[in-house]
Amino acid sequence: MEKAKQLSLIDTHAHLTDPEYDEDRFEVIARAQDAGLEKIICVGYEITSSRRAVALAEEYECLYAAIGVHPHDAAQVTERAWDALRILAGMEKVVAIGEIGLDFYRNLSPPQVQEKVFRKQLELACELQLPVIIHDREAHQDVLRILKEFPEAPGVVIHCFSGDLQMAEECLVRGYYISIAGPVTFPKAKKLEDVVKSFPLERLLLETDCPYLAPQPWRGKRNEPGYLPAIAEAVARIKGVSLEEVAATTTENARRFFGLPSV
Ligand code: NI
Repeated sequence: MEKAKQLSLIDTHAHLTDPEYDEDRFEVIARAQDAGLEKIICVGYEITSSRRAVALAEEYECLYAAIGVHPHDAAQVTERAWDALRILAGMEKVVAIGEIGLDFYRNLSPPQVQEKVFRKQLELACELQLPVIIHDREAHQDVLRILKEFPEAPGVVIHCFSGDLQMAEECLVRGYYISIAGPVTFPKAKKLEDVVKSFPLERLLLETDCPYLAPQPWRGKRNEPGYLPAIAEAVARIKGVSLEEVAATTTENARRFFGLPSV
């Protein structure tokens, strides 16, 4: 425990607006700080959660916000939602557009609508010069195809990376970051381990994606940012470097990517 306290980590993808935290949000954030987290990016998935992410970031100094419409919610987007997104994007602690992308696993919105909403948000990010947090579930080729249309995007991170080595290679060539979440700690994570092993530490971000995807040994339970050290430890083990090096480098990466202050 003493060791963890000296670390300085950034959880680049947390859904702290989720009702799962309504009873104990303050304690969850306090535990995260005790575990060595200096900052947490609170990520929205439609207008309401994006607004709440901004409000939380205003309330807690260590929190920042990403605002956007998740592919699941793409079909609900109205003209007024675009105005709201634009206003939110200009708020002080908003550091990215996200999460946005494609989800062809659950297909909760029709694929063509997902593509249209994804493109429109990429346009917004380019116009406002904000980096993007990408959700990609069983849509690797389509995500890469659409992202290619936006070479001027100021920063791209594929969150909770689930692609193979070939996709990682393409992301590397294009200058994207990839973000590693709880599945890296699972026993059968060979494909992800190969990606982590080969991808430069200088281009990796860490995230919990809480309340989902709790790392071992909390797998199946509610996740929280305070569990991020377990993900950093798994990355350190796989890459054969120290936990301190993983923490220092990924924290520096997150500051650079999102333009965060260093303290
Ligand atoms: Ni997420």
